[in-house]
Amino acid sequence: MTSEPPQPGPGAPADDRLRHNREVWAVVSADHTDAEAEARWATDEIGWGLFAVPESELGVLGDLEGTDVLELGCGTASLAGRLARRGARVVGVDLSREQLATARRCQLAFGPSFPLVEASGEEVPLRSASFDLVVSDYGVAPWCDPTRWLPEAARLLRPGGRLVFLTNSVLAGMCVPAEGGVAGERLLRPQRDLARIAWPGGGVEHHPGHGDWVRELRAAGLVVEALHELHAPPGAATPDYYEIVTAEWAQAWPAEDLWVATRP
Ligand SMILES: C[S@@+](CC[C@H](N)C(=O)[O-])C[C@H]1O[C@@H](n2cnc3c(N)ncnc32)[C@H](O)[C@@H]1O
Repeated sequence: MTSEPPQPGPGAPADDRLRHNREVWAVVSADHTDAEAEARWATDEIGWGLFAVPESELGVLGDLEGTDVLELGCGTASLAGRLARRGARVVGVDLSREQLATARRCQLAFGPSFPLVEASGEEVPLRSASFDLVVSDYGVAPWCDPTRWLPEAARLLRPGGRLVFLTNSVLAGMCVPAEGGVAGERLLRPQRDLARIAWPGGGVEHHPGHGDWVRELRAAGLVVEALHELHAPPGAATPDYYEIVTAEWAQAWPAEDLWVATRP
């Protein structure tokens, strides 16, 4: 049986915020079967976001053969697993022991195995300049303070290394009802409130505007290469596992933002 963790406000100190989000993810993990993670581990295809925009179209990851890759907020590590199968030496980091336990079960069932580290993306216990690619698929971007995790990502990258991260679009964040359900066609909250928001019954999340992302990326010493605003392709179906936007909504407006930045 699971119970809902008490809710810290958006201004809560970092320790409270991280503890709360760890508890939220223990609940989420208990509510989801391994089958969802297994379905993602079972494929070699990489698609970005709710509508699985193919990596082969976007080409944000580059050639992975022989590279050192860190997935931050790896969760069940299904992306990391697919990157490892493409020849990368991969490490996964996540705050949640429960999510990492699922990742370990999937490693044994599907392979390959690689190191999984239980830590916050805001403070990663790994050596500086040891990765060619830091990637995060809905991992740290919503869940960590950008003023803390972006400098960590930059520190962990080698010069010339690349940061790729996916998060909800700013517009989706303004249009989803707080009580749950999909985004509509009205702005329901000010953009500024999204920089740190405590969703009722959910986690404390960070959804800065595009200008704020650019400022924080630059402050961390990173150079923005691209922002891909991901839409649903024609004929796409509304996903049933994470009801935040419909396919129709995402054909008109971006559901997700996929950022690419490099460390000079
Ligand atoms: C939406 S899931 C990521 C899904 C992942 N791409 C997968 O395939 O399973 C978000 C993950 O972020 C993790 N997370 C939340 N706060 C974190 C933090 N401060 N540091 C690292 N990971 C965090 C959660 O534990 C969760 O596993």
